Amino acid sequence: MVTKYIIMLPKSIQLLHVFVVVLSLLLLNYIPVVLGLSSGGVEAANKIRCIEREKQALLKFKEAAVVDFSVLSSWGNEEDKKDCCKWSGVHCNNHSGHVTMLDLDAYGNGGPLTGKVSPSLLELQHLKYLDLSGNWFEGRIPEFIASLSRLQVLNLNEIHFGGPIPHQLGNLSNLRYLDLSYNYLDGPIPHQLGNLSNLRYLDLSYNHLEGPIPDAFGNMISLVQLHLSVNRLEGGIPKSFVNLSRLQSLEMSSNNLTEELSEILHKLSRSENSLQTLNLEGNQLSGTLPNFTRFSSLRELYLSYNQLNGPFPESFGPLPSLVYLDLSRNQITSSLNSFQGIISEAHFSNLYSLQYLYLSFNQLVLNFSSDWDPPFQLREISFASCKLGPYFPKWLQKQNKISELDISAAEISDTVPSWFWDLSPKLKFLNLSCNQITGLLPDLSSKFTDFIGIDLSSNRFTGQIPPLPSNLTFLNLSKNMFSGSISFLCAISGTDYFNYLDLSSNLLSGGLPNCWEHLKALTVINLANNNFSGTLPSSIGSLNAIEALQLRNNSFSGRLPKSMNKCVQLKIIDLEQNRFTGKIQAWIGMHLTSLIVLSLRSNKFYGSIPQDICYLNYIQVLDLSQNDLSGKLPQCFGNFSALVQSNSSDSEETSNFTYTTYEDGMYVTHVDYYVSNALVQWKGQEREFKKLGLLKMIDLSSNKLTGKIPQQVASLAGLVCLNLSRNNLGGRIIQEIGQMKMLEALDLSANRLSGEIPTSLAHLNFLCVLNLSNNNLSGKIPSSTQLETFDASAYSENPKLCGRPLPNKCPGEETVVEPPISTHGKHKGIQEDEDRFITLGFYVSMGIGFIVGFWGVFGTMLCNSPLRYAYFKFLDRIQNWFYVTAVSNMARLQRNL
Ligand SMILES: *[C@@H]1O[C@H](CO)[C@@H](O)[C@H](O)[C@H]1NC(C)=O
Ligand SMILES: *[C@@H]1O[C@H](CO)[C@@H](O)[C@H](O)[C@H]1NC(C)=O
Ligand SMILES: *[C@@H]1O[C@H](CO)[C@@H](O)[C@H](O)[C@H]1NC(C)=O
Ligand SMILES: *[C@@H]1O[C@H](CO)[C@@H](O)[C@H](O)[C@H]1NC(C)=O
Ligand SMILES: *[C@@H]1O[C@H](CO)[C@@H](O)[C@H](O)[C@H]1NC(C)=O
Ligand SMILES: *[C@@H]1O[C@H](CO)[C@@H](O)[C@H](O)[C@H]1NC(C)=O
Ligand SMILES: *[C@@H]1O[C@H](CO)[C@@H](O)[C@H](O)[C@H]1NC(C)=O
Ligand SMILES: *[C@@H]1O[C@H](CO)[C@@H](O)[C@H](O)[C@H]1NC(C)=O
Ligand SMILES: *[C@@H]1O[C@H](CO)[C@@H](O)[C@H](O)[C@H]1NC(C)=O
Repeated sequence: MVTKYIIMLPKSIQLLHVFVVVLSLLLLNYIPVVLGLSSGGVEAANKIRCIEREKQALLKFKEAAVVDFSVLSSWGNEEDKKDCCKWSGVHCNNHSGHVTMLDLDAYGNGGPLTGKVSPSLLELQHLKYLDLSGNWFEGRIPEFIASLSRLQVLNLNEIHFGGPIPHQLGNLSNLRYLDLSYNYLDGPIPHQLGNLSNLRYLDLSYNHLEGPIPDAFGNMISLVQLHLSVNRLEGGIPKSFVNLSRLQSLEMSSNNLTEELSEILHKLSRSENSLQTLNLEGNQLSGTLPNFTRFSSLRELYLSYNQLNGPFPESFGPLPSLVYLDLSRNQITSSLNSFQGIISEAHFSNLYSLQYLYLSFNQLVLNFSSDWDPPFQLREISFASCKLGPYFPKWLQKQNKISELDISAAEISDTVPSWFWDLSPKLKFLNLSCNQITGLLPDLSSKFTDFIGIDLSSNRFTGQIPPLPSNLTFLNLSKNMFSGSISFLCAISGTDYFNYLDLSSNLLSGGLPNCWEHLKALTVINLANNNFSGTLPSSIGSLNAIEALQLRNNSFSGRLPKSMNKCVQLKIIDLEQNRFTGKIQAWIGMHLTSLIVLSLRSNKFYGSIPQDICYLNYIQVLDLSQNDLSGKLPQCFGNFSALVQSNSSDSEETSNFTYTTYEDGMYVTHVDYYVSNALVQWKGQEREFKKLGLLKMIDLSSNKLTGKIPQQVASLAGLVCLNLSRNNLGGRIIQEIGQMKMLEALDLSANRLSGEIPTSLAHLNFLCVLNLSNNNLSGKIPSSTQLETFDASAYSENPKLCGRPLPNKCPGEETVVEPPISTHGKHKGIQEDEDRFITLGFYVSMGIGFIVGFWGVFGTMLCNSPLRYAYFKFLDRIQNWFYVTAVSNMARLQRNL
């Protein structure tokens, strides 16, 4: 239904991140105490001044950094700033006065520092704690940091450092905490880091590190937390990991690990009793799911997005501490190997603490008896695409803490039992879509206390849409059989978070309520394919966030309210197949300048197309066909910048909308075009376009437009489809039409066009639908070109047109040029003269023959194939070759004459 450019942040990563942040805060507050670092600000006696050399070093550091705002304003040479131990972020030892801590994280400091990290820091030889996180220093991690040999805590998180990790960091033998995450570090992980045998916390996640995890990591025997997620690490974990007996958290999601899962577990056998978090999602792990029972402390297990296959172990437990279990999306292409099987209650029998369970998008059959009493209370359940039906799962009845429930596409063909709606007032996300659920919806207005998003699409719900909770965030009831009016909307008032409304493809009717001022947050309204009638109420104009308004295929009538000119975020207006009337108003072009799609097709708009339409610089689909529009075409096609550009990538940047949902246990940011939904009449048949970026079209067909086709049309080098058929357009086909290099379909039929077909039309390599029929064209269809390869019907009903593929030959073309027979080869000149004819005739006719033959075989196949372009290029070269050969032969001959 919708094209998604999904930026997935698995929830575990987000949670992990929060966890890490919390943890590091804890550690950072805790470590100074443990390390005996004192707080310099409150010196026991005011006498202790900082050491001059260290002070100068700090001042040099400040100098090398670019300091904005009031960051580091307490640092300076002035009299009142003498004691550098009192500077913000600086801490000294009570007794010696040496700087021991430099805590300059951007958040605690009022803003990021940029520029360089000065090597003057080397003076601070007593530094135990260095935190520069969040600042934007340039370049690489400075190697001199490795000479601060007393360092115990080094935090260089999110600094934008690039390049490799300096192997010298392996010398910092006192280091306990090392965070290099969220940088652009690349290359392999230096094995020297393995020398950090006191390290407890190592975070290298969110970088571009590649290669294997060094074997030497097994020497970091103090390691409690190891974070390597979101890199490009390969292989598996080294054997030496068997030494990491204190490991509590191992995070390696989103890498390129290919090991068998059971191997990994084998190497973690010494951490069996300590390991709490194992995150391996987003790798290419294979093998079957082993028994985890030995990992008795396990709280979180993330294995989604791998290539694990069945069968399942008898039971997942006992894992008395397990809270998170994510096995979703282990479906690989070969179904023989995928993660399939039957999951029954036995699998869960000892998972007392389980709260988050994600099994979606596997080929699992969930076979629970109807009187199953699960030993846990789940908060989030995602079983999308598992076989759960045909009955609505009754065991849910005892799960009353659920906040997210996704049992979509689960083959449920049942009614929703009435207890379900009272099950969990805390529900935030409900997805029952793509089942065959029948029945009515009860009044839901007071069932849920939190913000809630509801997706019941693609089911068989009937009856009226009942009152719904006023704290909705999104609502998708599309593709059901709901009927009646949508007055329920007016009761959802005052919500600032309700941004998505899709009621399309139901049997809804009646007029639109006039209460849209209460629904100001809506960005998408899709009411297509219903039987709504009446006019658009003026309160539509208060939807100042709206980006897509899709009302196609209803019975709306009347004029568009002028208030719509305030909906300046609109990117898509799809009003096709209604009975809207009135003139196309200037404000559409003047105010709705973000429009990408404007489809008014098949309505009753009349009058001329206003010149102001030309302000729509981003327009990609302009479809005004099948109305009563008259007058001339606007003279400013060159202003449609998105259509002038022939690449689609930049238009993507200007044409996204984003909203976030929870799906399958993930926060998903959608960047949508919403146009795949908007069926577009293209190449004579309705097709869904997955990606608007690729579709650029103007369709003004079936109106009463007059005048000439303006010259500027030729500047639309990105246009893919141009349909001006069934109007009263006169004049000639523009000569420069060959500049519209991307054109795939051109329909100018049923007009009054006259003159010859411009030869440049033959330069359109992508053209595969052409209709020039029913005009007044004359002359010869350009020969030796692909134009001859279209069906004759493309040119029919043009009495003065001649040449292939039409049956009527052009005057003077009746006799094919025969190579003159050499009768008296007396002198060279004549011989070559004959050659000349032979050569030309031969090549030209062979050229035509070849092209026709080629097209006969491949033509139909090529249309729409991605290979088409290559073939056309090839064809083009062949044609050129014939041309060049013929011409150069001629030239040679002429020289000789
Ligand atoms: C340093 O001074 C602070 C504040 O006076 C005090 O709380 C702390 O115990 C002292 N630390 C040492 C190691 O003496
Ligand atoms: C660091 O570890 C390597 C092995 O990875 C070892 O050869 C080297 O001696 C160690 N260096 C120090 C300073 O411990
Ligand atoms: C993962 O490895 C495979 C081959 O081993 C490679 O084709 C692929 O590009 C790698 N993916 C990443 C994200 O590095
Ligand atoms: C128009 O909507 C009706 C439902 O009201 C649907 O049955 C029909 O298929 C739709 N027509 C098109 C062309 O989508
Ligand atoms: C749509 O509504 C009109 C009245 O507004 C009614 O005459 C027509 O039968 C309805 N069409 C369908 C398919 O329900
Ligand atoms: C169209 O572009 C021209 C410059 O190319 C500009 O002067 C004119 O104002 C534009 N017209 C509209 C309606 O945007
Ligand atoms: C989405 O649009 C916004 C502005 O509307 C732009 O800043 C952003 O770069 C776009 N993002 C993408 C991925 O196109
Ligand atoms: C609901 O589930 C369906 C099918 O699994 C999915 O396509 C859809 O995106 C989900 N809806 C939401 C809002 O996440
Ligand atoms: C152009 O539009 C007319 C209807 O307005 C349609 O019949 C025809 O198929 C369209 N031509 C192409 C090439 O899509």
